[in-house]
Amino acid sequence: MDSYSVGYANIALVKYWGKKSKNPVLPYNPNLSLRLDNLYSKTKIEKSKNNENEFYINDEKQSLEELNKIMNFIQKFVPNINEKITIKSYNTVPTAAGLSSSSSGTMALVLACNEYFNLQKTTKELVQISKEGSGSSCRSFYKMASWLENGEVEEIKCDLDLSMMVLVVDENRKKISSREAMERCVTTSTNFNDWVEAAKIDFEEMKIAIKENDFSKIGEITERNALYMHSTTEYATPSFSFLTDDSYKAMELVKNLRNEGLECYFTMDAGPNVKVLYLKENHEKIYRELEKLWKKKIIQCTQ
Ligand code: ADP
Ligand code: DP6
Repeated sequence: MDSYSVGYANIALVKYWGKKSKNPVLPYNPNLSLRLDNLYSKTKIEKSKNNENEFYINDEKQSLEELNKIMNFIQKFVPNINEKITIKSYNTVPTAAGLSSSSSGTMALVLACNEYFNLQKTTKELVQISKEGSGSSCRSFYKMASWLENGEVEEIKCDLDLSMMVLVVDENRKKISSREAMERCVTTSTNFNDWVEAAKIDFEEMKIAIKENDFSKIGEITERNALYMHSTTEYATPSFSFLTDDSYKAMELVKNLRNEGLECYFTMDAGPNVKVLYLKENHEKIYRELEKLWKKKIIQCTQ
């Protein structure tokens, strides 16, 4: 029997970028995401055979730093662990490349703990636990979700069939994690407060656009929100950027397709890879065009 627990990646259309509080983890601005069912992590916990705690991703033993991070998190919601465990996880998404492995991985881990330690938590409780491991992961429990400043996570109903694909720029581990990067922006970016205010407006407008099935508006807000988030990295000290020349080329491709009548929009997270948002009914046409123009890998994220 396959006893793995599965967690999904999600990509924010309005980003979480900055913690107003670290304990509990609360975002500066409300944010909203789409789950990508083809990008997931699966995780299993077993009693350790080596009498030490171990953490593997894709059969690769993780560093002591990664192990400590994960064990500290587990100990917050599983008291009195009196055995050594092995955590085995597989990511279908590249790890730490801005494709949301932290959300799929954390959701899978929380579910695996619930199973292995027989915690019998409700989904609502697991959602709240998950955000303490990685903020964005709390949104992965729903197809579309919002995470509010007070910590609440709500399912968002959407009648549109939204899809995403990734124009892969680089699958390697990023040099600076989302956590460190957002922390640097919170403490040093001269436009951080402006970002928070703009993101709050984006969130409100996004909810209306979703309710009104206004895909053009959804796309417009998605792009401007991502660009604003990335601008905070430029205004940080020391300044940095997740985007590379190829990221900008990918963004141009998306804009060109749109100008030619194939409606699609871009968003980027803490990494150089570019995600393309479109209506599922246009999948074939958009994929065919992008396949011709984008010489690197494309990952299809939704069924
Ligand atoms: P990403 O852009 O992929 O979400 P982040 O920098 O936000 O990258 O997070 C990467 C971190 O997420 C990893 O260093 C690790 O701590 C955690 N992570 C990734 N995959 C898993 C997994 N399968 N199980 C548990 N944690 C994971
Ligand atoms: C750019 O949720 O990975 O993807 O809470 O510190 O684990 P931690 O950060 P994380 O950050 C996600 C940042 C983002 C935007 C988003 O997903 O909303």
